[in-house]
Amino acid sequence: MTAVQMSSTPGQRGHSAELRAAARRLGAAGVDRRGFLTVTGAAALAFAVNLPSAGVAGAAELDARKITEDPFTLGVASGDPLPDSVLLWTRLAPRPYEADGGLPATRVQVRWEIARDERFTRVVRRGSVTAHPEFGHSVRADVRGLDSDRTFYYRFRAGNWTSPAGRTRTAPARGARTSSLTLAAVSCQAYHDGYFTAYRHLAAEDVDVVFHLGDYLYEYAVTATGGARNHTDLVLPAHYNRETVTLEDYRMRYGLYKSDPDLRAAHAAHPFVVTWDDHETENNYAGGLPENSVPPEEFLLRRAAAYRAYWENQPLRTPQRPTGPDMRLYRRLQFGRLAQFDILDTRQYRSDQAYGDGWRVPGPESEDPSRTMTGAAQERWLLDGWKASDARWNVVPQQVTFARRRNVPTDAYKLSMDSWDGYPASRQRILAGAEAAGIDNLMVLTGDVHVGYGFDLKKDFDDPASRTVGTEIVATSISSGKDGAQKPANWNNLTQANPHMKFYDGRRGYALVTLGTERARTDFRTVSAVTTPGAPVTTAASFVTEAGNQGLTPA
Ligand SMILES: [Fe+2]
Repeated sequence: MTAVQMSSTPGQRGHSAELRAAARRLGAAGVDRRGFLTVTGAAALAFAVNLPSAGVAGAAELDARKITEDPFTLGVASGDPLPDSVLLWTRLAPRPYEADGGLPATRVQVRWEIARDERFTRVVRRGSVTAHPEFGHSVRADVRGLDSDRTFYYRFRAGNWTSPAGRTRTAPARGARTSSLTLAAVSCQAYHDGYFTAYRHLAAEDVDVVFHLGDYLYEYAVTATGGARNHTDLVLPAHYNRETVTLEDYRMRYGLYKSDPDLRAAHAAHPFVVTWDDHETENNYAGGLPENSVPPEEFLLRRAAAYRAYWENQPLRTPQRPTGPDMRLYRRLQFGRLAQFDILDTRQYRSDQAYGDGWRVPGPESEDPSRTMTGAAQERWLLDGWKASDARWNVVPQQVTFARRRNVPTDAYKLSMDSWDGYPASRQRILAGAEAAGIDNLMVLTGDVHVGYGFDLKKDFDDPASRTVGTEIVATSISSGKDGAQKPANWNNLTQANPHMKFYDGRRGYALVTLGTERARTDFRTVSAVTTPGAPVTTAASFVTEAGNQGLTPA
């Protein structure tokens, strides 16, 4: 019997170490998969852990001059700015809706260049990288030696084709006394719920960096007319009209999303720092446990495929490259002495949702102190990072609502078991760690819930008079939830039930946050509709947080 077949019963968590070990062995051996789950599953996993071979054993190389259709249909992106570096990304896909992107299983040489000006007359670095078929012909150049706190322009070339140009920006030097940084927070972009109009507007905003807080894509079926988009000018292939499960499914889904011109425009305009939530894999999964009654080992195969496709399609550095069903996505970025960003992953290591998930009355199960949202290693990493921080603003881009959120203003309230409310001990350890570290100006950035919220974070959420220890900005969705409404049906209930909630708006859009040495300003930007293209953007509300005096005040 294989290690996997000997694994513990579904629902227990001990199996995953064995499966991971098996996954790594498969990846190393690449052939011994007899008896391992189904043949399809084994093949999917083997592919998911298969790295490009070196030298003569690798895939043959394609003469890029023979690429007869534009391979840059998915646009360009950049990400994870450092003081001397930014990661440049593209993926070659002449046919973005096809599993192989329309390319043979051969390597392709791709050149890149980065310049100080958008006409590329002052090129500061250039180079060449290999696009491997094993990685879906994704391309990444980790450009080093750049000046800090500068805007750059970049592009790629394959054969006779040149990509669109992207604009990006390096972070300020480590000790720099940067006076201002503007970021955008975005999340939740269900293609089938509407147009990415918010991204078209975001592309025109003056921001230094965009944080994507998860649900970059959704696993659900997309109809031939693109759901709520009601396309009249294109018919999507039938393979989109089913849930994503395999690596090919996820790759094709990224092809669909990245083919959206507004999303491409936002990536081309600004560097992105991405983290995922659940839908890049499956709705409301928790660690190695799926949403539905699928055997956990089968779910980990799906997770491996989803993580692999995520890595292929995002501007992430090599340390984020997954191994089978594991991927180190949490990481830290610093922008001078102004801001430290601790980007979390609250999906991969979390305990199972209490009380079967959903909105539930809290109790001993959800309040079990052994439950964790981050896993022990990530929690330690976060608290240690705060101890070492000398930043004015300590920002935590992450996925699910951090503040207490009661659904009704009575004692019979329920809480969302998928949010931090379902993991209160974990939240309290984080808040206590922030206090013990003496960090300045905690700000949590959140996605997931398809509405905009502004929260004061309380030392004790049960006591409205307790100290405010930070703020939380919940970016609404780009498109998920369709058009939305300024005042959703539960607006009065939530506002009354949560006195620390300073803002609630149910429309689509994004949040802009400008961090300064004296204060932070947040603008909630909303679009009037997403089921029709071209809606204008407005500022629904603006808030200020004074450095050293936590809490949101209307600007
Ligand atoms: Fe979402």
